[in-house]
Amino acid sequence: MTQKPQSLTVTLPTGEPVPALGQGTWRMGENPRQHAQEVAALQLGLDLGMSLVDTAEMYGDGGAEEVVAEAIKGRRDEVFLVTKVLPENASRRGTMAACERSLKRLQTDHVDLYLLHWRGSHPLEETLQAFQELERQGKIRHWGVSNLDVDDMEELTQLAGGDAVATNQVLYNLSRRGIEFDLVPWCRQRRIPIMAYSPIEQGRLLTHRGLRDVAKRHEATPAQIALAWALQTGSIVIPRARDEVHVRENRAALDIRLTAEDLAELDRAFPPPRGKRSLEML
Ligand SMILES: NC(=O)c1ccc[n+]([C@@H]2O[C@H](COP(=O)([O-])OP(=O)(O)OC[C@H]3O[C@@H](n4cnc5c(N)ncnc54)[C@H](OP(=O)(O)O)[C@@H]3O)[C@@H](O)[C@H]2O)c1
Repeated sequence: MTQKPQSLTVTLPTGEPVPALGQGTWRMGENPRQHAQEVAALQLGLDLGMSLVDTAEMYGDGGAEEVVAEAIKGRRDEVFLVTKVLPENASRRGTMAACERSLKRLQTDHVDLYLLHWRGSHPLEETLQAFQELERQGKIRHWGVSNLDVDDMEELTQLAGGDAVATNQVLYNLSRRGIEFDLVPWCRQRRIPIMAYSPIEQGRLLTHRGLRDVAKRHEATPAQIALAWALQTGSIVIPRARDEVHVRENRAALDIRLTAEDLAELDRAFPPPRGKRSLEML
């Protein structure tokens, strides 16, 4: 059987392609001693084509956005930049102000995708109105959400303009497959891509026996198999790596094509859901 490479892009509902494999930044910008390493890791990832960068105002209290600013300096146009507003800031005015602060830390005049980090007490309608205003002002190019289950997505998409949601960023990896029962098909039907966060379960998947044999067959690491699997679901996948060896390994996961036999073996080790499970979050 011919081995097709993984698709390098995922298409947003607007038809815009974005890199399927990006880079996360949670826990970056917290420790000044790791600053240079974090900047270098992100820059290497960009050099290797992982040009979607996911950050948030929450990470390192704005520190991660500052790390990202340094990493993308002079190459903003190469990058599809994603950041997030915290739920407590997600009123109409609060979202506008949070976006301004993020733009300042990121040293840019726009983000490519702005997400509501998770649902809080502000009405979705208010956050949506702010997103629409920010879009009109050219400060964000797309907006989306994170950690929303089907009922919240239903509510969102019934609001005026709510069906323009570009993505739902959720916890999705081999050990967290609950969303395959309902959220994945719901999004697929509407061509809303899933952005899979913690794709290697923050490292906990690395020692899982279920990945060992498949990894051996591909002369790959467990992390690479976990990423190849997530990519093969058609999701946008955003591992975080500070270590340059990890960055290179992650990029190479794009070249792995899991066979039907591999997928069946992974299904046995990590069974897909048989019923509704509430959305899990980290
Ligand atoms: N929306 C949300 O609520 C939410 C929640 C969680 C995460 N996220 C986003 O998703 C991104 C990814 O999730 P995550 O950071 O939680 O976890 P993750 O990407 O699943 O795992 C990160 C951990 O795996 C290690 N790692 C990365 N590549 C590896 C490789 N090839 N081999 C071995 N170890 C490897 C990293 O080590 P090193 O750093 O030492 O290389 C780090 O310790 C976040 O950074 C963030 O941008 C979003």
